[in-house]
Amino acid sequence: MRDPEWWKSAVVYQIYPRSFADSDGDGVGDLRGIIDRLDHLVALGVDVIWLSPIYRSPQDDNGYDISDYEDVDPSFGTLEDVDALIAAVHERGMKLVMDLVVNHTSDEHAWFEESRSGTGSRKRDWYWWRPPREGHEGGTPGAEPTNWESFFSGSTWEWDAATGEYYLHLFSRKQPDLNWENPEVRQAVYAMMRWWVDRGVDGFRMDVINLVSKELRPDGSLPDGVVRSGRFGDGSPYYTAGPRIHEFLAEMHAEALADKALLTVGEMPGVTIEQARAFTDPARREVNMVFTFEHMGLDHGPGGKWDQRPLRLTDLKANLAAWQEGLADIGWNSLYWNNHDQPRIVSRFGDDSPEHRVTSAKTLGTVLHMLRGTPYVYQGEELGMTNVDFRRIEEFRDVETLNHYRHALDDGASPEALLAGIRPVSRDNARTPMQWDASANAGFTTGEPWIAVNPNHTEINAEAARADAGSVFHHYRRLIEVRHAHDVVVHGDFALLLPSDEQVFAYTRSLGGQTLLVVANMSGEPADVELEGKADLLAGEVLLSTHDDGAPAEGERVRLAPWESRVLLRR
Ligand code: NOJ
Repeated sequence: MRDPEWWKSAVVYQIYPRSFADSDGDGVGDLRGIIDRLDHLVALGVDVIWLSPIYRSPQDDNGYDISDYEDVDPSFGTLEDVDALIAAVHERGMKLVMDLVVNHTSDEHAWFEESRSGTGSRKRDWYWWRPPREGHEGGTPGAEPTNWESFFSGSTWEWDAATGEYYLHLFSRKQPDLNWENPEVRQAVYAMMRWWVDRGVDGFRMDVINLVSKELRPDGSLPDGVVRSGRFGDGSPYYTAGPRIHEFLAEMHAEALADKALLTVGEMPGVTIEQARAFTDPARREVNMVFTFEHMGLDHGPGGKWDQRPLRLTDLKANLAAWQEGLADIGWNSLYWNNHDQPRIVSRFGDDSPEHRVTSAKTLGTVLHMLRGTPYVYQGEELGMTNVDFRRIEEFRDVETLNHYRHALDDGASPEALLAGIRPVSRDNARTPMQWDASANAGFTTGEPWIAVNPNHTEINAEAARADAGSVFHHYRRLIEVRHAHDVVVHGDFALLLPSDEQVFAYTRSLGGQTLLVVANMSGEPADVELEGKADLLAGEVLLSTHDDGAPAEGERVRLAPWESRVLLRR
């Protein structure tokens, strides 16, 4: 019997299949490409692969719009290729976690096609259909059933002239929301999950799973949101962690996940620590862990995501510490800097200049990986891959970015100002092809890549990194090794040091008689650090550091070079 909590000591690697490795030269990554590159992950030492969606899809949102949950998109391969991938991953002692996207389907899913076929359709109630607002003519501005704004700009409602009603889509109009109030919908989802578990997958990353329960008024209508600026209101209070969310997740667990020792992680925009405690409380049997967004919002300005501000280190430390402490006695954290929705961390919280790219990427890895929780590495993060330098809107591919651009232009914004906001934060920063080597197209494809390769692949690539003992890759490999070798990294209690220091990130982890000290200079200037009463920790065994020639500690003091970090263990 395998340890039911095996995921607590695991490290997960996320693959975005479209951008990982293309085996057939069509410019889009695929399953055979992943199989060919598995040895890279074995060398890194990760335990689990999370695969972003490979299901059949019109690719409006790169596969997060699924038209058949039990088939593979031809651009990625076939079901036989998935079976081969599962077998190849298992042969190498790793596990495979699938993306589960069930807040919405594609508008080309057979369920939706049947639902939209007429108001009397057997599946009409599988989605959120609503008449125009009273006194308004359907399809005209203001006639939408609620004033909610979509995550991808514009209204959350799409007018269907053929049946005279609107359908709800929190994301793109090609991603209609499923109606989880309907028990048939839930049973169809659970059946599909069991089908994948039977095929051999080891868990699920659940896309925006805290949005599936919507708050209805007694008459079945959905409420308007508060309007802060512009034409739209904020519907999030009515669909984030709605009234039945815990019931639905517990039911999903009972129906599809129980007694299988799977890894489950719920992606949960807007989730609070208090809510995360409930979602991950093992006694409630909902999910193992959640993805919080709080630390990813700390550099958002008043204009939100497209209005990036410099990060204050004290805000980041306070936030990460609050999650560490909040989930200390109940539940479990997931730890991440990057995924396919976030700009590259070295360009965001680090420094991607030639002088500091490698050390800042390593130090960001250190401060995250030594926390308590399950770390997630996003493809290319282990190479210190950077944001891309797209200058023209035509170079971007992401539906969120392009919709934002189009809507903001319509609202009168200037193209220059829009591009300035988009460039540092667009999701496409994470989606340029994996940089395997210095050859044309970075060894990603022999064809024309679906999105441009970052020209810095001539220097930043896996082949070079694996051959260089001082690379970001080998640092990440050692961070994973340290986690696997030391229980204190997995289970130790967390304590933040120097909370008001704007330059240094320092904390301890303690278990039994052992204490681990992490001390990191998060800046491009040298740092003089004083850790009162911690001389013994500073004199501990160095498990990992960014600099071989670091200055020795003198009692409670140590001088750190720019972006230098150390992990020390006192037994
Ligand atoms: C979150 C996913 O990570 C993102 O890529 C996607 O666009 C939305 N959910 C909608 O599925």
